[in-house]
Amino acid sequence: MAHPPRTRYTKQSWGILSSCHLSPRASHLASLTAHLPSFPPFYGVIPAQYATWKVATFFTWVGIYRVLDSRFHGNDNLRFHVSFFIIHDSPPMVRIYTTSEIEKIARSGAILARTLAVLKKEIAIGVTLKHLDTVAREYIRKEGAEPAFLNYQPHGAEHPYRASICASVNEVIVHGFPTEYKIKSGDILKIDVGVLLDGMYSDSAFTVIAGKGTAKAQNLVTATRKALEEAIKAATPGNHIGDIGYAVEKTAKRYKVNIVQGLTGHGVGYGLHEDPYVYNYGNKGEGLLLKAGMVFAIEPMLCTGKGQVCQLKDESWAMVDRGLSAQFEHTIAITEKGPRILTKE
Ligand code: MF3
Ligand code: CO
Repeated sequence: MAHPPRTRYTKQSWGILSSCHLSPRASHLASLTAHLPSFPPFYGVIPAQYATWKVATFFTWVGIYRVLDSRFHGNDNLRFHVSFFIIHDSPPMVRIYTTSEIEKIARSGAILARTLAVLKKEIAIGVTLKHLDTVAREYIRKEGAEPAFLNYQPHGAEHPYRASICASVNEVIVHGFPTEYKIKSGDILKIDVGVLLDGMYSDSAFTVIAGKGTAKAQNLVTATRKALEEAIKAATPGNHIGDIGYAVEKTAKRYKVNIVQGLTGHGVGYGLHEDPYVYNYGNKGEGLLLKAGMVFAIEPMLCTGKGQVCQLKDESWAMVDRGLSAQFEHTIAITEKGPRILTKE
């Protein structure tokens, strides 16, 4: 899911802001905000007005920290290209699931695992992404469940999602729409699916290379798969959420690949996206204390390029430098006995 990097969130955006709301002089704003720390830039295309009113309902504080460019637009309006940040300081509301609730999520997850197995068999050169979407939707419904992504509206999205799977090719990292695009040899394909059964969501994703991939692509996919394995091992009671991120980060370093910025895993269960954000980087022993009963979608997203993402017109997230990207995801429960993968058959 799209997330604020650590607790601070910066975005660059074009937006029309009325001069009566803000100083019409960019230099005033720049000096007003000069004392703020400089956050790494985060590239996005959410219009400023939209972000400030919509996002503000979820976050505590929103402010502009750097005016990158501005020009007068119409009468009193100044068109800004700004970088803004959000500080959300409310503590995450992390649910603790009972054993029977976890069993329910596991039943949803088992259907999801079977769906992914069916999709893996369907993937071939020349097959359209739309076909995979149809196969997934029909299979999930045959199992008596619902595709969780269909008509789901992620935070910040302008309209509900109109498909059952996300199918993201090459530089597109997540939320790729399953179009009539035909899979080509060498494509790095990320398939992400959610299932809703009996009120419980599960979320899982995998990456495959169609045909023969380059050694670089194969290394990236292996690294990401391994990062998920290592991250899951770290999801034990008494550990901290930083241990999960640390495991991903360490694996990425070992394989000499980078971490996709601005996208994270998340809590899952009664909702598709719940607290907390599960970062793909972190420090050992830092952050939320992990307890039995927590259920997370852990989803390392790694890449060969710098890791900056931008949102495309179809609202999918892609690598700015067009580098390759890979993603694996499982829904897991933290139990007294350790991590339990819920999205498996
Ligand atoms: N697995 C995706 C995520 O965690 C969920 C996509 S929802 C959709 O971000 F509606 F965009 F498909
Ligand atoms: Co997810």
